[in-house]
Amino acid sequence: MRIIYDANEMHSIADKHREWRKIIGFVPTMGYLHEGHLSLVRQARRDNDVVFVSIFVNPLQFAPNEDFDRYPRNLKRDEELLKREGADFLFYPSVEDMYPEGFQTYVEVEKLTKVLEGKSRPTHFRGVTTVVAKLFNITKPHKAYFGKKDAQQLIVLKKMVRDLNMGIEIIGMPIVREEDGLAMSSRNKYLKGEERNQAVCLFKALKKTEELIAGGEDDVSAIVSEMRKVIEGYPLAEIDYISVNRISDLSELERIEKGNTLVSLAVRIGNTRLIDNMWF
Ligand code: PAF
Repeated sequence: MRIIYDANEMHSIADKHREWRKIIGFVPTMGYLHEGHLSLVRQARRDNDVVFVSIFVNPLQFAPNEDFDRYPRNLKRDEELLKREGADFLFYPSVEDMYPEGFQTYVEVEKLTKVLEGKSRPTHFRGVTTVVAKLFNITKPHKAYFGKKDAQQLIVLKKMVRDLNMGIEIIGMPIVREEDGLAMSSRNKYLKGEERNQAVCLFKALKKTEELIAGGEDDVSAIVSEMRKVIEGYPLAEIDYISVNRISDLSELERIEKGNTLVSLAVRIGNTRLIDNMWF
């Protein structure tokens, strides 16, 4: 696996692979890789001739009060993991290369980014869509892989690609969970002792929803109130939101629509904000 630090060099490598008619699979990440990321790389390896992965902790998607500086980083470990999964190129740009002085062009998806995570993190998605558009321009993939854990991100990026005719297939991959059900996330590293135990409450609340829906419940307010009860059983947990939305446009639902419903929640455990979801 080759590590490329420079955007122009990565761009020419992508051009060459396009010339050679290779199918390019791309997995954008912010590093500190876990099984969730590796499942994306594995799928990319199966589907494509060449696999590009990027690691870039994107300052644009963090608000000033968020964890950009302390976001976990470990290039050596990530490099080893990616080699083992058979990634071909790791793109590892600097902030200066991605956002040189005078940078002033942004990509914004409007309505879909105003709800859910967008309410609590109003500048987040503009950072995500801008960096992903740049990464797509640099790596020129045919297919790009994202986890369903960041459900809204996946929906927003699909919209961006469609609206801007990017011609890239966006593939959403299942959430990978720890043994107790906690969704894998680089931020789980922040959870200490009892916080880690109580972080399972998001999954427990979603499991409750799964049971209720399987039993025929379709009333959203009844489901949300049961989810609240589950989380209230965990004293370290503080709910940011619990929401039930239509997948196609993220509008709020009053009744479950089978095949088009996203149940998602954000919960603070101590200082760590966790998100999770299930698709029904
Ligand atoms: O999901 C992530 O890790 C990031 O939001 C992404 C897509 C790599 C953009 O920085």
